[in-house]
Amino acid sequence: PSATRCEAAVASTYQETSGTVDLDWDNLGFGLVPTDFMYVMKCSSDGKFTGGELKHFGPIELSPSSGVLNYGQGLFEGLKAYRKEDGSILLFRPEENALRLRMGAERMCMPAPTVQQFVDAVKLTVLANRRWVPPTGKGSLYIRPLLMGSGAVLGLAPAPEYTFLIFVSPVGTYFKEGLAPINLIVEHDFHRATRGGTGGVKTIGNYASVLKAQKIAKEKGYSDVLYLDSVEKKYLEEVSSCNIFIVKGNVISTPALKGTILPGITRKSIIDVARGHGFEVREQLISVEELLEADEVFCTGTAVVVSPVGSITYRGKRVAYGNCGVGVVSKQLYSIITSLQMGLVEDTMGWTVR
Ligand code: COI
Repeated sequence: PSATRCEAAVASTYQETSGTVDLDWDNLGFGLVPTDFMYVMKCSSDGKFTGGELKHFGPIELSPSSGVLNYGQGLFEGLKAYRKEDGSILLFRPEENALRLRMGAERMCMPAPTVQQFVDAVKLTVLANRRWVPPTGKGSLYIRPLLMGSGAVLGLAPAPEYTFLIFVSPVGTYFKEGLAPINLIVEHDFHRATRGGTGGVKTIGNYASVLKAQKIAKEKGYSDVLYLDSVEKKYLEEVSSCNIFIVKGNVISTPALKGTILPGITRKSIIDVARGHGFEVREQLISVEELLEADEVFCTGTAVVVSPVGSITYRGKRVAYGNCGVGVVSKQLYSIITSLQMGLVEDTMGWTVR
């Protein structure tokens, strides 16, 4: 439905929630702030999702034997809504998230909502929670769609029933460094993904498996971990929560998608934006040596947006970038992408959805 029809649906079903909320908008981090509503839609063995509805945000009931709890049959997505100065709300490329969810669902033997169902559900959930969308320039409303095998299984098999759920939370910057450069350590013992595995889809298990390396890195004072390929252990893959790019002169490179790297929507958007601004962009194998010799390094992701990397540590050797400040290319790309997402410039790409 159009935004207006969504608004009508929200207003007729639920008490108006457009009042203000008492939040410290100036100090939003990336932690859950419970909001008013979540969206829930189910699908049984016929493979069709129907009867989606808004419910008050809160715990859900799951069989202890559900596929998601026992065998990790689950996927998630992440996208953001921004408030424009005129009060309207913008989504950034929500159809891309819908398509990625559908790709992941195919890999995980799950049915998935259609692109239209996904986008309509996102719009409805955002509108129902619109008082939680931060004021312009103070952050965004992070939207977290989940798709899970909610039906009961015991032997290893796809679940007989699936639940699609969306919840939202106002957020600020992802890393505690805020917009300041982050410090990464290259991990050589643990790997995030391997060829033929599920590294290229947004399945929940990919994120559980990086927690240990991330915990060790954080205890040593690093912001996050950069993973290498699991075969030759010399080519960059991605950071626990985002994709990685290196800059050398006018060339921007990022690891090619070969099934072990998440096809980030911000990654894809930055590649297009950088090409449009005269950079040569290469998707290719990138060795650790090339990383250490780069002029600049930055990460991209929905949660992290464009995060400049201040230093990389590899086997005890630390290399600093950008004179400890934000590199010029990272700054330029951050500014272009956020201006688009926040509706501060004309969207000639047609990426934003009101
Ligand atoms: C996102 O950027 O939206 C992600 O899904 C990463 C997550 C670890 C916060």
